[in-house]
Amino acid sequence: MNFAVHAKNRHSAKAFDPTRKIPEPLIDQLRDLLRYSPSSANCQPWHFYVASSFESKTRIAKSTEIGYPFNHAKILDASHIIVMCARVALDDGYLEQILLGEDHDQRFTTLDAMNAQRTIRQFCVNLHRYELKDVQHWIEKQVYLALGTLLLGASGLNIDACAMDGFDNRTLDQELGLRTKGLTSVIVVSLGYRSRSDFNAKLPKSRLPHNVIFTDI
Ligand SMILES: Cc1cc2nc3c(=O)[nH]c(=O)nc-3n(C[C@H](O)[C@H](O)[C@H](O)COP(=O)(O)O)c2cc1C
Repeated sequence: MNFAVHAKNRHSAKAFDPTRKIPEPLIDQLRDLLRYSPSSANCQPWHFYVASSFESKTRIAKSTEIGYPFNHAKILDASHIIVMCARVALDDGYLEQILLGEDHDQRFTTLDAMNAQRTIRQFCVNLHRYELKDVQHWIEKQVYLALGTLLLGASGLNIDACAMDGFDNRTLDQELGLRTKGLTSVIVVSLGYRSRSDFNAKLPKSRLPHNVIFTDI
């Protein structure tokens, strides 16, 4: 499989066909892509809300009404919306939950190996908690990595997508009750099939040339 073909063929869909729905088996594949996305120290500091009903999409679209009207229809007309959320903290209980999951998945052949993993993960988290003081930023980087995995995977499945940071985070967090669950919205992704009015589908891609972005050493 030539992944570059999928990277070149994808585009950010600017208008979706509201009559077309993504089949659930394909949505399940997208869920797997998100679930298997890598993260630093395997912290998996995310949660994903998947919406497909008009009612749920309307709730999400409220966050674009003021300030981001250009994204409103992209949410209402898309087949599915994924709200990619970050955890606002990585507390010790959560880290232990991950460790127990890894143990359940038979990642450790000895107790020493399990303890070493606990120590390494704690070291990484503490570095961002106490020294770099950028836990939230570090967490969001992991969410964006999952976004990249999702966008490339969607292209491979011939699903159109548009990642959007143009929405009001406070409105969306409130609408979905995210903050009481220790979550906050980072990015909204519309998924579906382009409509005829998707002008971006007809435009050539534009990227900086090789010599500007690569240095071989
Ligand atoms: C993190 C991120 C946020 C974006 N936010 C928006 C947005 O709010 N609305 C929109 O129409 N496009 C949005 N885009 C799409 C970009 O404008 C688009 O990816 C870029 O121009 C490259 O074009 P392409 O995706 O068609 O290759 C976003 C893309 C990314 C990766």
